Amino acid sequence: MEYCLIEGPDISDALLEGCSQLFSQHYGVWSSAAATPTHCGGKAGSPVEMSAQQMRVQLLFDETCGVAVCLSNGLPVGQAFFCTFTLPALHDDDGSRNVCWITQLVVHADRRRQGIAVKLLSLVVDSRARDCVAVGVASCNPTTVRAVERVAGGVSEVDEGLVREVFSHCSVPHLKRATDLVVSECECAVNTNFFVDHLEGLFMLEKLKCQWVLGVVREGWEYLSIVRLSNLPESEEVNG
Ligand SMILES: CC(C)(COP(=O)(O)OP(=O)(O)OC[C@H]1O[C@@H](n2cnc3c(N)ncnc32)[C@H](O)[C@@H]1OP(=O)(O)O)[C@@H](O)C(=O)NCCC(=O)NCCS
Repeated sequence: MEYCLIEGPDISDALLEGCSQLFSQHYGVWSSAAATPTHCGGKAGSPVEMSAQQMRVQLLFDETCGVAVCLSNGLPVGQAFFCTFTLPALHDDDGSRNVCWITQLVVHADRRRQGIAVKLLSLVVDSRARDCVAVGVASCNPTTVRAVERVAGGVSEVDEGLVREVFSHCSVPHLKRATDLVVSECECAVNTNFFVDHLEGLFMLEKLKCQWVLGVVREGWEYLSIVRLSNLPESEEVNG
């Protein structure tokens, strides 16, 4: 398997087509609440899909965007799309005020639990997040949050001021359309009206419960995880 990181403008249509296939076949399925005129999802149990064209618009929306991919025989079996954005109001001693955001993470169902997600996120962190004060992700899957926490070397923030500050400057289109945000000591989630089935996420949550601070998301909502990068380990440790 081959890992590489590609900047947005260099991502070919052929690669994006492969990324679209991977997402559409392996991300997840719509929940029973999805197929209503207001929720705009697909039929319950049918795969959540994203075309290459939609990926260009929704995931490669500015010059900071890119993707880390894991290729097997030239085809993506794992992908981590990302972007960075700036926090004008966050003061940091070294002057670095960028946040790295993971906009999509998916690994082929037959290739999970082999450390692919962690390796992809490490690639992103090594390339971008060294200039950043934090890494973030919105996902209904606790495993995604765990993988981000592991690579960032910290735990998700539930500091309301910090979370709201980061969220208010987030450049990701589907998060800018979010209709609600809750942050407390035991919950941090955003209402993105994304009605993907949560069964896998709930199953994972059962395993993680004792170390989990983000609560339990309702349908249509996603966990909002922001991890400070001050404890970033050396890349050998991250990849080890
Ligand atoms: C989330 C996802 C990207 C993880 O990919 P992966 O390559 O299997 O993840 P990794 O092997 O790098 O593991 C990441 C961490 O999660 C843990 N993990 C992964 N799958 C796990 C499982 N089924 N049970 C317990 N732990 C698991 C790993 O042990 C690792 O934790 P650690 O670093 O503390 O050991 C993958 O499961 C996926 O694509 N899921 C579907 C996408 C999605 O989010 N859908 C929405 C459903 S709600």
